[in-house]
Amino acid sequence: MVDAVVEPILEVSGLVKHYPLTQGILIKKVIGAVKAVDGVDFTLNKGETLGIVGESGCGKSTVAKMLVNLERPTAGLIKYKGEDITRLGGRALKAVRRNIQMVFQDPYTSLNPRMTVGDIIGEPYEIHPEAAPKGDRRRRVQELLDVVGLNPEYINRYPHQFSGGQRQRIGIARGLALRPEVIVADEPVSALDVSVQAQVINLLDRLQNDFDLSYVFIAHDLSIVRHISDRVGVMYLGRIVEIGKDEEIYDHPTHPYTQALLSAVPVPDPEARERRERIILSGDVPSPTNIPSGCRFRTRCWKAQERCALEVPLLAVPAVFRLVPGPAAHDSACHFAEEKQVVPPEEPTDDLGNGGA
Ligand SMILES: Nc1ncnc2c1ncn2[C@@H]1O[C@H](COP(=O)(O)OP(=O)(O)O)[C@@H](O)[C@H]1O
Ligand SMILES: [Mg+2]
Repeated sequence: MVDAVVEPILEVSGLVKHYPLTQGILIKKVIGAVKAVDGVDFTLNKGETLGIVGESGCGKSTVAKMLVNLERPTAGLIKYKGEDITRLGGRALKAVRRNIQMVFQDPYTSLNPRMTVGDIIGEPYEIHPEAAPKGDRRRRVQELLDVVGLNPEYINRYPHQFSGGQRQRIGIARGLALRPEVIVADEPVSALDVSVQAQVINLLDRLQNDFDLSYVFIAHDLSIVRHISDRVGVMYLGRIVEIGKDEEIYDHPTHPYTQALLSAVPVPDPEARERRERIILSGDVPSPTNIPSGCRFRTRCWKAQERCALEVPLLAVPAVFRLVPGPAAHDSACHFAEEKQVVPPEEPTDDLGNGGA
């Protein structure tokens, strides 16, 4: 949860990752770019959890990989404690990487089946031998097993001897091995049964307190990040379109895309369910090789007007014009964010008959 003192640990600005789009098999010709991440800005404060949510393919994993240096950004800055880490190399980079670790989406494919659990969790010590003296590693791994709720005696077992939830605990233990300050969790529970999702989320929540961690928690569903996030950012087609404190995003969303996503989240309270209208977006998500001009959401938006095709809506007021430093309580990249109308008009605006998403 948010500390009294707001202190940014990660500051991401203008982050871009474009992959070349090629044609031909032997002779590859670049014919365009897959704009996987296309200008992402956010701040992660110390001790907080920032949820990042968006449909499959919107660029979440690419952002995660850039944060932990598995991918090099095409453009933009990633500041860790005020220092841009995208241009670091050698020992300075290694030192920073130690502090920002990732937990991967699929515990079935991300753990090497031929390695013992002890070797998997202790692997980071091979890369960063300075983190733990050789003679001490086994004890540390056993401690980590205990910390994530697994029996330390399982140290010599193999991944296939564990359930999905237990495997993700192993992945989390590996992520903790170097005592990082930031954990980037890329859909850590998406591959798990609903019944074990809550257990793993509770574990992450407890570890955050015990180890003073800051989280970037990625999910494709707003309901999953709700309970763990202090702030939430919603991504669409390579950009964050709305970001803010969780109660702002869940109770007063101002971007039509967030409103549509929220209308699809199950509501336990029957009265609230009655009052709510389900927003069905027209058309499909455009290809990241061919992003619409102006507002990238406009091709599916019931509020879209001429201006939306011409002007890119900014997520936030540029920092130099802001009165209060640090992230705002709520930012929305919509020209009509101030408007109260949430529900689209009765008749679908798309006269091509593209109903449904
Ligand atoms: N190495 C790559 N080369 C080309 N395109 C990629 C590569 N990695 C991801 N993409 C594309 O970038 C977009 C975003 O992918 P990704 O970040 O994995 O999305 P998400 O995690 O939100 O599902 C997708 O269209 C995907 O196909
Ligand atoms: Mg992904």
